[in-house]
Amino acid sequence: MTDILTELEDRRKAARSGGGQRRIDAQHARGKLTARERIELLLDEGSFEEFDMFVAHRCTDFGMEENRPSGDGVVTGWGTINGRMVYVFSQDFTVLGGSVSATHAQKICKIMDMAVQNGAPVIGINDSGGARIQEGVDSLAGYGEVFQRNIKASGVVPQISMIMGPCAGGAVYSPAMTDFIFMVQDSSYMFVTGPDVVKTVTNEVVTAEELGGAATHTKKSSVADGAFKDDVDALVEVRRLFDFLPLNNRDKAPVRPFFDDPDRIEDSLDTLIPKNANQPYDMKELIEKVADEGDFFEIQKDFAANIITGFIRLEGATVGVVANQPMVLAGVLDIDSSRKAARFVRFCDAFEIPILTLVDVPGFLPGTAQEYGGVIKHGAKLLFAYGEATVPKVTVITRKAYGGAYDVMSSKHLRGDFNYAWPTAQIAVMGAKGATEILYRSELDDPEKIAERTAEYETNFANPFRAAERGFIDEVIMPHSTRKRVSRAFASLRTKKQTNPWKKHDNIPL
Ligand code: HXC
Repeated sequence: MTDILTELEDRRKAARSGGGQRRIDAQHARGKLTARERIELLLDEGSFEEFDMFVAHRCTDFGMEENRPSGDGVVTGWGTINGRMVYVFSQDFTVLGGSVSATHAQKICKIMDMAVQNGAPVIGINDSGGARIQEGVDSLAGYGEVFQRNIKASGVVPQISMIMGPCAGGAVYSPAMTDFIFMVQDSSYMFVTGPDVVKTVTNEVVTAEELGGAATHTKKSSVADGAFKDDVDALVEVRRLFDFLPLNNRDKAPVRPFFDDPDRIEDSLDTLIPKNANQPYDMKELIEKVADEGDFFEIQKDFAANIITGFIRLEGATVGVVANQPMVLAGVLDIDSSRKAARFVRFCDAFEIPILTLVDVPGFLPGTAQEYGGVIKHGAKLLFAYGEATVPKVTVITRKAYGGAYDVMSSKHLRGDFNYAWPTAQIAVMGAKGATEILYRSELDDPEKIAERTAEYETNFANPFRAAERGFIDEVIMPHSTRKRVSRAFASLRTKKQTNPWKKHDNIPL
């Protein structure tokens, strides 16, 4: 009996040692943690339960039968984050470069199936040389099985990808189909084809970091939702994000204890809007002053900063925030900001997270670059996302809400539940200057008259009251009471039930 116990311990020890001390040292020398160290940091202490520690590949080509490491390059299992269940896989670069064999993929599929069955999120830690070259099509088949599960799980359980090393070729498409991707600066990259192939095909000379590093994907491509300075930072932040999310699409997001008075008055908000309507101000100040304890987890902070997306809590409950940012491009809607916000709104709706929309939008960005780039289709994504969303929707217009962008930003007409405006709101087809120049074109050579017409338009239209008279704005509220009003609005919507007509699925403009 003791012999068997000892054998088990020996086998466990061998599996836990991954690719051996030399490769573990090499991993550390690159500033990277090992697959198991990452899991330890991600999960609550002692909560990890491993599956398939002894799984080994079945490949017999290239002498692989002589090299069958236990676990096959990926550590899988489940555990908890602040007591809430999560399934995890963590690729072990020290074992055959974390490459994906048929059995490696099967291990990932097993925990994904359990996650969907038991209603808990999946966090995938990616650090892999891609398809196991020795296995050929068996490896590709394995990827295909993972892809199919990503698709089935989408909208059922939250899926989070952490890129903590190489992630290249078709392998990128598994993270690409998950809800959030986080990368680590200087030690991770994602690309469909690497620098050598790029050089051969397009003659461009580019480093792996420039082609697919964290900066590229958080600032240029928007493939990734956030970048962190090292593994520890990334794992700690993902724990923080996890606390905002429900476990599955039938569960509510967790309600955390809060120590911030929901009725808190913020007098400073009464002077947030500058006198000059063209002067910017920081919308993040409003978000942080509304949120419980000023806590805000931002998504895609480095991309399309003219719109802000992220999570806050109100009375302890998660709320998704979408807000125009007047500090960047005057908060205009364009291709990038529409796509960014649309995806965020759809995530919130899929997982029953209420949405707070803060509006200060001068319209859509004009120009050939926008039109040729398909701003019509991309803008429609955001419009569509808001219109189909059935979660509680509360909107506050702080200043501009012009033209089509007024409709798009969670207006009453898209089933907004509470549509508030500050007294500084200007809800109109366009700004006063543009409007008078069109309406009074014949008087354009008389600046005095035009100034008079502009002032007249401002008095009549640059306010929230026309919209309030029609019931498109439910109430004009004092800026200082925004937290209180918004918290009460969401509280009243906790029992909201709204459904869309039956359909197989919609046809959102892609
Ligand atoms: C088998 C692999 C491997 C792979 C790495 N290794 N990638 N083994 N299949 N794909 C092994 C190496 O042989 C080495 O073994 C160990 O992992 C570490 O690799 P190194 O090359 O020493 O590490 P490094 O210098 O850091 O380079 C990492 C790397 C490089 C850039 C990822 O290994 C590399 O280019 N690998 C091949 C990548 C690739 O072409 N993959 C297939 C892509 S196609 P030892 O024993 O020496 O430690 C693809 C398609 C997916 O992935 C399709 C899905 C549909």
